[in-house]
Amino acid sequence: MKYLKILLITCLTFVLNGFSQTPTDYLTKDFHKNRREILRAKMPTNSIIVVFANPVRNRANDVDYVFHQDPNFYYLTGYREPNAVLVMFSDNQTDKNGNLFNEILYVQKRDKRAEQWNGKRLGVEGAIRELGFKTAMNAEDFVKLNIDFKKFDKVFIEKFNDDYRDLSGSADIFNLVKDFKIKAGYDPNIYLSRVKEYVYNNIANTPIESSANVIQIINQVEGRFEEIKDDKLIKEYKTANTDVLKKDIKQKITLALKPKTNIDITFLTSNLATMREVKTAEELKLLTKAVRISAIGQIEVMKAMKPHMSETELQGIHEFVYKKYGAEYEGYPSIVGAGNNGCILHYIENNKTKIGNDLVLMDLGAEYRGYTADVTRTIPASGKFTTAQKEIYDLVYEAQEAGITLYKIGTNMQAPNLAAIKVINEGLFKLGIIKSADEKHPYLPHGTSHHIGLDVHDPGNYGNFEENMVVTMEPGIYIPDGSNCDKKYWGIGIRIEDDILITKNGPVNLSEEAPRTSEEIEKMMAKKSVLDDFVLPNLD
Ligand code: GLY
Ligand code: MN
Ligand code: MN
Repeated sequence: MKYLKILLITCLTFVLNGFSQTPTDYLTKDFHKNRREILRAKMPTNSIIVVFANPVRNRANDVDYVFHQDPNFYYLTGYREPNAVLVMFSDNQTDKNGNLFNEILYVQKRDKRAEQWNGKRLGVEGAIRELGFKTAMNAEDFVKLNIDFKKFDKVFIEKFNDDYRDLSGSADIFNLVKDFKIKAGYDPNIYLSRVKEYVYNNIANTPIESSANVIQIINQVEGRFEEIKDDKLIKEYKTANTDVLKKDIKQKITLALKPKTNIDITFLTSNLATMREVKTAEELKLLTKAVRISAIGQIEVMKAMKPHMSETELQGIHEFVYKKYGAEYEGYPSIVGAGNNGCILHYIENNKTKIGNDLVLMDLGAEYRGYTADVTRTIPASGKFTTAQKEIYDLVYEAQEAGITLYKIGTNMQAPNLAAIKVINEGLFKLGIIKSADEKHPYLPHGTSHHIGLDVHDPGNYGNFEENMVVTMEPGIYIPDGSNCDKKYWGIGIRIEDDILITKNGPVNLSEEAPRTSEEIEKMMAKKSVLDDFVLPNLD
């Protein structure tokens, strides 16, 4: 009987999904539930977590940007709509009927008219049925029902950016946050800025006899962050000319570091970074798919690229391949930069109308069910690298190879970056582009390794590599026009970026399908593309 029931439910689910014809391979509700349980286990007793959904952002007039859920909120709930709040309790709570609960998801209320204009809402029933929450309520209940935030020892939230509008609804994110702030007694001024906190911590934790070191640190920080110069206590510490005075200010600073509220803005960010930096099997399936789609997109562009094409057209070819595989979005704005444009790290105009014989840098990532790839290939529009281009390309490749071999469990995540810098510096010196291998130069202005996941720059602690992390390896060399070197290198911007999975058996390059060596790229570019015969009417 039990099996018959399971079979019927499975068939029904299949039929319903079949009818709605929407993707069925999102993260499961068990994944999100499990993430909440892991996080709850880290909460001290008598604490509460409050996480808000992302706001809808306006593009212009009555047109909004496509909504994108806050990745932490999505990780914990699976809810893909705005105007929602997740509340989690460390300890069981009792409702007015005596039922126990330890979490509530507040969601957008079903609304026939709104749904006709802007699409179906999950509502309370949907949140219970599809996301597996035992307790879900309409967002307006978050405002109506009183949670006494003051009774908890700790209220864990993420720092508010307050970068959204008050819409007309009474339970939009603006009102939900506003209501929370009032009830919880949130005072934004109570928090020290991160930079100030860093300096204060240095002062508080350094013995008076070593204060010269602290002053050196303060001077360095002041060079980068003007705000520090105006801080009264830091100023006093710097000018105090006796140990007694210094000790007195140190005490005041230690006191200023003590929280005066039960609201904590670090717990969630740091624990979610620890959780999100290591991927589960479910996440790896989606992330691997996103990466493979992106690598295949690169292959199609390699075959299709012709000197008469524009940067926008190339972007379109990639993005068509993503969509063909059902990837919803790009994980970040596509970067397609020909020639000197390739030297702009986050170039997103992509508006050069003819790539000619330029080298084209293409940094593109499909987002599949929320997970984003980050793959870069740099290829010659003519199909053949010039000697100068190949010299620089092969050097970046060598640096990438040196880095990838270090993607091993237990290795510090800085190591690949340092290895790549070494290869690049020695190579640039050999080519005569810099005068010595330890000369400070502007040709590699970024690091090589970041986590990917729900964010393209996924959160993490950046300690040692652990099994099931997925981290980019992306060395580059950028020599803009007018650089202080032989003109033949001007306008060469090259980045090679792959997404590497850390396993017990060493690094696995998830984007390896897209050719990487200069020889393999030239071979791929010589192949015929289906787009060679795709001709549209001329409109000029
Ligand atoms: N696409 C941005 C990056 O490579 O980090
Ligand atoms: Mn990257
Ligand atoms: Mn990238």
